[in-house]
Amino acid sequence: MCGIVGILGKSAVAGQVVDSLKRLEYRGYDSAGVATLEHGRLTRRRAEGKLVNLELRLSQEPLSGTIGIGHTRWATHGRPNEINAHPHATDRLAVVHNGIIENFRELKAELEAKGVRFETETDTEVVAQLVTHEMRGDKGPAEAVAAVLPRLRGAFALAFLFDGEENLLIGARRGSPLAIGHGDGEMYLGSDALALAPFTDQITYMEEGDWAVLSRSGVEIRTAEGAPVKRQRQQIPTGAYAADKGNHRHFMAKEIYEQPEVVARTLAHYIDMARGRVCPVDMPVDFARLDRISIAACGTAYLAGMVGKYWFERFARLPVEIDVASEFRYREAPLEKGGLTLVISQSGETADTLASLRYAKQCGQNVLAVVNVPTSTIARESTAVAPTLAGIEVGVASTKAFLCQLTVLLCLAVAAGRARGTLSAEDERGIVDALIGVPGLLAEALKGERQIEVLAREIAKATDVLYLGRGTSYPLAMEGALKLKEISYIHAEGYAAGELKHGPIALIDERMPVIVIAPYDAVFEKTASNMQEVAARGGRIVLLTDERGAAEAGLETLATVKLPEVHPAVAPLIYTVPVQLLAYHTAVFMGKDVDQPRNLAKSVTVE
Ligand code: AGP
Repeated sequence: MCGIVGILGKSAVAGQVVDSLKRLEYRGYDSAGVATLEHGRLTRRRAEGKLVNLELRLSQEPLSGTIGIGHTRWATHGRPNEINAHPHATDRLAVVHNGIIENFRELKAELEAKGVRFETETDTEVVAQLVTHEMRGDKGPAEAVAAVLPRLRGAFALAFLFDGEENLLIGARRGSPLAIGHGDGEMYLGSDALALAPFTDQITYMEEGDWAVLSRSGVEIRTAEGAPVKRQRQQIPTGAYAADKGNHRHFMAKEIYEQPEVVARTLAHYIDMARGRVCPVDMPVDFARLDRISIAACGTAYLAGMVGKYWFERFARLPVEIDVASEFRYREAPLEKGGLTLVISQSGETADTLASLRYAKQCGQNVLAVVNVPTSTIARESTAVAPTLAGIEVGVASTKAFLCQLTVLLCLAVAAGRARGTLSAEDERGIVDALIGVPGLLAEALKGERQIEVLAREIAKATDVLYLGRGTSYPLAMEGALKLKEISYIHAEGYAAGELKHGPIALIDERMPVIVIAPYDAVFEKTASNMQEVAARGGRIVLLTDERGAAEAGLETLATVKLPEVHPAVAPLIYTVPVQLLAYHTAVFMGKDVDQPRNLAKSVTVE
């Protein structure tokens, strides 16, 4: 949700901290700040809004110092303004924080009763004041932090800088990721390895409850209980972090266009191209022994899971229960020991999904993570990982990761069908052949961009948009609506087409565009009837279909976007492209911040 950085350097660090924060800006961009020790004295610069405002501030009022911390904020407590921007400081220390301190009110009241005065509305300032209070009682920095951490409830990653301490940073993590970077006579802290890539590829990931005392000569890591502990130091392939837009205007456009390549890369991991079969998957449990699967995920990842449900139930006759993770983690679902829960996450750090994983494991379930970041917390805490090889996804609106999630889920469903004897070799071969053809079909679908760009100008005039679909096009209708609303801020809803007459049809009039996702398949005729119902009420239809569907629809549309004829199993992958492009071009036409939409963050690491 927020990004934090710390640098124990040999030269001026303020500019390096900002460069590192730029790689974390996808995590939050309400405000940002840096603190360094100038001749040993704590000094801060903070600014509201995007990082460029902080850079401007630093150009006007430079910061010297070879040790510093920095932060990009996605507001959880307190308005997004400069006073609430991190780092938060007292006369003794500065701290940056990613996460939520759930008991900050009672701790704040305790300190106020002792005469401590607060200047912000944030939970983070409570941490700064608590550690300072311990130091006023003659504890050293590490001792003071050790005394405070157990008193904090909630999820957090913290980095501390101490007045007068030129060779000391302290980091702590519980529920939010924190990585340690090893340099040559320098040391680093960062929310993830991406932030530290400009400095080092030697990374140590802190585990749950760890806290670390860094000096330029190294790091001492302790567990929540205070015991010294060694954590693995690994080399992160630097090529993993090619975060640039190429020749695209936005990361989202680049990532939409990367889809043929990254889906092909993902397919190569799961399909034996020579034999035309899905490879055996590193499964923690035999699909044949399962009575059902539970799926938990958030947002777009959840919608990928909804598509996966159709596939597991159709091809493997395996019942699937799916929940948004924020519900799954609290509804106390009865889960059988030895069963399987699938968690799906691009970032691998989503708090609700991580909590669902932990609940499932407490119930004795095997957890398989469909995840895009192999070093993420979800990946590391799962029983097994089914990676989506989408590469780094910077655009807040998930695109290529979603398609790779669908790719993996369809491969898993085929593997399950084979294991359970519910999918004939011929049917398996048909689906696998269709999957192998997906990258080329995606490239084909991308050729329709110009038509969609023109259509987007019409959609941009709407205040509300309805998306309809049946079968696997129904979750896709919801994904199309999510894409549109999160980057254009136009209200949009995805509905099962068959549900139209049970309420939503009351919304239909000439101002309401209705996007209908309908390849010519077994339920096309039913959807065509729904379209007639819309047309009869003056609704303006945008039909996403194929040649056959366009011929059979038999009605006037605002636009008909023709996709290639595809195997029904892979239709959701191909029909994703026009809904992504429609959202993208609508938002661009409206002048929205496509890669960093308001109020959103790429990785929701708080509840
Ligand atoms: C998708 O476009 C959104 N940015 C959001 O719904 C996202 O899918 C959700 O927060 C889950 O994130 P994750 O895949 O990293 O867990």
